Amino acid sequence: MKWLFQNVGKRAAFAFKNPRYAAGSIVRELTRSDESFIGRITSAKAQEIRGYLNEPVSTPEFAALLKDAAEEFRHLSIESADLFAKKVLLQYAAVRALAPERIVETGIANGVSSAYLLLAIQKNGKGRLHSIGLRDPAFLPVGKEPGWLVPSWLRGSWQVEIGDSRQVLPSSLSRFGTIDMFIHDSLHTYEHMLWEFEIAYPALRPGGLLLSDDALWNSAFHDFARKMQEQDARILRGVGFLRKSKA
Ligand SMILES: C[S@@+](CC[C@H](N)C(=O)[O-])C[C@H]1O[C@@H](n2cnc3c(N)ncnc32)[C@H](O)[C@@H]1O
Repeated sequence: MKWLFQNVGKRAAFAFKNPRYAAGSIVRELTRSDESFIGRITSAKAQEIRGYLNEPVSTPEFAALLKDAAEEFRHLSIESADLFAKKVLLQYAAVRALAPERIVETGIANGVSSAYLLLAIQKNGKGRLHSIGLRDPAFLPVGKEPGWLVPSWLRGSWQVEIGDSRQVLPSSLSRFGTIDMFIHDSLHTYEHMLWEFEIAYPALRPGGLLLSDDALWNSAFHDFARKMQEQDARILRGVGFLRKSKA
């Protein structure tokens, strides 16, 4: 439960402003429903998923990295992902449990999610992450490259492709043939999200996972899951998780 005690001040302020959401989160915590669902779609036990959630902050080098990054973000006026949010931990746990060979993500920014995914890959002892993103000043400190916070000791399994996913995602996917996991975190418009889901889904192996950050911003994730008649699809902490059931 170490992760629960990170960013306590911010969490308390959020809970104060969003009491219904906070109450729902407490119920989900107590019933472990997020962990059960991730366990179901990765064939792992909820208890195992719970264990994975504690790993990043219990890994000294990674905990130090998060602490340094939090310090750096405090002085910057750029948009950044929450370094300790449960939503990124659930993605981390899904990678630990599924042990994928090939992950493709869109939307790199500072590289918070990339760092977590690469830590999971390192702990699994197998897998590669291909990340596609833009050099977008709205998300980056001056002079920094996309993914700058990913440390050198995690970069061995990482391939970065700079470009608009509309341009580069189709060719990357056809180069890989089959992938085990796709994670959308680029442009969160209905059209773009649906476009990425439509192009990534055929490349996923049966049993593979399609994830979408900020899936509550519009109905693209729900509409896509319904269209594909996928039953194992749920939004946890704002992240859509869908298990592909068919070939
Ligand atoms: C929400 S941020 C990603 C956060 C990142 N996953 C993290 O955890 O730090 C979204 C990123 O997607 C990039 N982006 C927006 N539209 C894009 C597109 N069409 N193709 C690739 N990247 C895009 C933005 O520049 C921004 O860096």
